[in-house]
Amino acid sequence: MGHVYPDILAPSLLAGDHGNLLESARLVKNLGLEWLHVDIMDGHFVPNLTFGPETVAALDRELRLFYDVHLMLERPDQFIDAFADAGADAITVHVEPGYPIAETLKRIRELELFAGISLKPATPAETLLPFLGQVDMVLVMTVEPGFGGQSFLPGMLSKIETVAQWRRARGLEYRIEVDGGINEKNAALCREAGADTFVAGTSFFAAADKPAFIRAIQGDAPENLTE
Ligand code: DX5
Ligand code: ZN
Repeated sequence: MGHVYPDILAPSLLAGDHGNLLESARLVKNLGLEWLHVDIMDGHFVPNLTFGPETVAALDRELRLFYDVHLMLERPDQFIDAFADAGADAITVHVEPGYPIAETLKRIRELELFAGISLKPATPAETLLPFLGQVDMVLVMTVEPGFGGQSFLPGMLSKIETVAQWRRARGLEYRIEVDGGINEKNAALCREAGADTFVAGTSFFAAADKPAFIRAIQGDAPENLTE
């Protein structure tokens, strides 16, 4: 439905080896992938803690990747510059908490980064409407954010369709990313609904044949495989 971009697989570092994150990121790079999804949690907006700007900076010093930073924070506006300095390439903020959202998206773009907006499963798609003209990506959560390894919520497919319809109707160009419980099978359903950017944590790191997993999600395998 109205695809405007090639499909991208963004493995989620959350499902990597927390004792050796660099090795997990290197695995992604060596498979020829470009995006790495990095979940930042504050223990308030979601009931879990993960990484900080220093994590992104440490990875960025070693590996040139497109760092797709997903901020699950009550006050994401207070951390935009820190993640930009750390080497983030995309910064996605949520629509739910109370903070100056439009100003925050503007700041992300001022820093010449990709600006994303996301919403939890229970949040209506309509909450995104005021911001659609300001974003490069809409991230539709397909599980309750906070933890990896949960099951995909099929009810989110209609939300993806709605966001894709708005893109077409309004002549906008944002990517549509899905995140949570994504595997080869439901990625195809999300693609049919309009998604073009696929975060996969548990299923990616568990896949025995990663080139086949990559092909299943984003089409032809990259040529520069070094694994
Ligand atoms: C959940 C995070 C996801 C998580 C997905 O709050 O936003 O990015 O890493 O993990 P899986 O693919 O295991 O559901
Ligand atoms: Zn995420």
